[in-house]
Amino acid sequence: MPHDLSPSPDTVYPINGLKRTCFLKNIVTNPQIIVGDYTYYDDPEDVHNFHKNVLYLFDFIQDKLIIGKFCQIAAGVRFVMNGASHAMEGVSTYPFKIFGGAWVNAPLDAPHKGNTIIGNDVWIGNSATFMPGVKIGDGAIIGTNALVTKDVEPYTIVGGNPARPIRPRFDPATIEFLLELKWWDWPIEKISQHINALATGDLELLRKVHI
Ligand SMILES: CC(C)(COP(=O)(O)OP(=O)(O)OC[C@H]1O[C@@H](n2cnc3c(N)ncnc32)[C@H](O)[C@@H]1OP(=O)(O)O)[C@@H](O)C(=O)NCCC(=O)NCCS
Repeated sequence: MPHDLSPSPDTVYPINGLKRTCFLKNIVTNPQIIVGDYTYYDDPEDVHNFHKNVLYLFDFIQDKLIIGKFCQIAAGVRFVMNGASHAMEGVSTYPFKIFGGAWVNAPLDAPHKGNTIIGNDVWIGNSATFMPGVKIGDGAIIGTNALVTKDVEPYTIVGGNPARPIRPRFDPATIEFLLELKWWDWPIEKISQHINALATGDLELLRKVHI
């Protein structure tokens, strides 16, 4: 097999050094944000804006934002994490405890909805917002400006506020096959070899090379 010339996932700015697009894992500094290889973030202003759009991520809560491989993330995307939530069972939602002093023993039972998990090969449109704890399946598409409040099934297009399914991308049997194929876990040489089949949806060929 010829030497593989695919971009290195460890490159910060993989498109000719252009500063608006980065392989995201290489700029992330917070250990509560975990990003897979080749997932990119594009922001014409500054790719470091990504951090300020992961909202209310606190180390004393220890929730995580986990993003898979080969995701495509547009500018303005926001992740609201669990630190955003106030307790809602009492009369007041005021978080007395955090101000300390005489209020330090007040309960602080804000809901915790777990980690936010974005699968692999998820395309996230401009300015989409994710609420705490949502799980997005592999191959999903999140429309521009969507407010994602619930989990999204794999290979499903969603949009709107609140985000609702627009349509599945494939029939159920094909989705089952693609979830088994997990092309994003192939060695990079194999991905490079079959990018045409992946990009055009040549399922016949993909079935042949699936072992
Ligand atoms: C979601 C998206 C992929 C759908 O594309 P599409 O299949 O060509 O969509 P269509 O224009 O055929 O619209 C299909 C339906 O979805 C709705 N829709 C499309 N985009 C939507 C969005 N962002 N939010 C809510 N509804 C949306 C349309 O109104 C239409 O509804 P209808 O069936 O009731 O008439 C696309 O509209 C989108 O949002 N792309 C993201 C673009 C982006 O932000 N890119 C960032 C740089 S990479």
